[in-house]
Amino acid sequence: MDEFKQIHSWLREAAPHSVSPVSKLPDPNFECEGRPMVSFSSNNYLGLATSPRMIAAARRGLERYGVGNCESRLLGGDLDIYHELESRLARLKGRPAAILFITGFLTNLGVLSALPRLTLIARFYGFRPQTHLSYAYFTDECNHMSIREGIRIAGVEKAAYRHCDMNHLEDCLKASRASVKIIASDGVFSQDGDIVPLPQILEVADRHDALVYIDDAHGTGVLGPNGGGTMEHFDVDSPRLICMGTLSKAYGAIGGFVASEHHIVDLLRFGCSAYSFTSTLPPDQALAVMEAMDIVQDEPERRARLWENQRYFVRAMDKLGYRLLARETPILPLWVGDETACQEYSQTLATHGFHVDPIVFPAVARGQSRLRFMMNANHTREQIDRLIAVLTEHRPAAAEPTIESAVSVPARG
Ligand SMILES: Cc1ncc(COP(=O)(O)O)c(C=O)c1O
Repeated sequence: MDEFKQIHSWLREAAPHSVSPVSKLPDPNFECEGRPMVSFSSNNYLGLATSPRMIAAARRGLERYGVGNCESRLLGGDLDIYHELESRLARLKGRPAAILFITGFLTNLGVLSALPRLTLIARFYGFRPQTHLSYAYFTDECNHMSIREGIRIAGVEKAAYRHCDMNHLEDCLKASRASVKIIASDGVFSQDGDIVPLPQILEVADRHDALVYIDDAHGTGVLGPNGGGTMEHFDVDSPRLICMGTLSKAYGAIGGFVASEHHIVDLLRFGCSAYSFTSTLPPDQALAVMEAMDIVQDEPERRARLWENQRYFVRAMDKLGYRLLARETPILPLWVGDETACQEYSQTLATHGFHVDPIVFPAVARGQSRLRFMMNANHTREQIDRLIAVLTEHRPAAAEPTIESAVSVPARG
């Protein structure tokens, strides 16, 4: 009975962690312990979470449907607006169908653990496959925790390939005897800020008849000429693609989804317990997300401002001689390495009124800590200049490594 007490007191010593409550969410201005702060760590890339149009859409949802949908989709909670949103998400991703989940994390957990279980479920109904079916996942070592957890729960063969290393991925695929192979990768890597080489992954997948699961949490609404995400950025399409996304980042709401072929989506509705054994997205959120999709189309100036801010900050960091791990997306991680130095540096920035998350173990491997700057459409030039002034005056304590040692290190295999 006392085991958890022992673990708790150990961890309090070994991994002290505290987050101060905030009294306002970053737009990117917020308040922490009564102090005004500017966030350079918000997923609310386009500032939509607080946009009047989104708030009005959510209000319409609240008035029409109430606060929550106290049912699962299979038991009376299957609102028509969820179908409308799913059709729109499918179109956005250029896939025939889509299925909604309550969060992005749960999407990855639920879908990745369910896919290999579908054979078993069909067997209960008398399905007898013509050949033995076995499953294997091939996962980028820098994938988000929710992908890693989903694959862990699936309990099937797994190979972690070196970050974005197509030769290594191909070697792993060659070595596998599984009959169903699924490659899983972040679209935009959440802790590294780089973009998956999707066209090359699809070529490898073609050669090995594999499915490709892309988590486009940070690409959706941000990448591509219309904010369609990583697929649109590369202008690729394939029936092999299972496109996952979250509604909690650029779209400023909550929810997750998978867009794919009709049969995959149907199978998930049938056999994914994270879909069928839980209540649904609150209806106001579904309406807010549809409004967000409209705003991304109607107000391209938001995305333009995001990218202007991104370029401005990257140029300033270059001038200062700082080494960013990637510079392709609004996620701009600055290498620090040492965990304590990273946390202290984040604290230094906080004392000057800037919130920048220190990314440390277990989000990344030990010794791979970085400060993750995330740019936002609502950052003003003045805010960015003030941050740059602080970065000019104070530098992190750790030595800067080569790019090779900074990137491509397993987060946790
Ligand atoms: C790559 C990636 N996938 C999934 C998630 C989970 O999404 P959500 O916050 O919507 O649960 C996150 C959240 O940070 C993420 O960065």
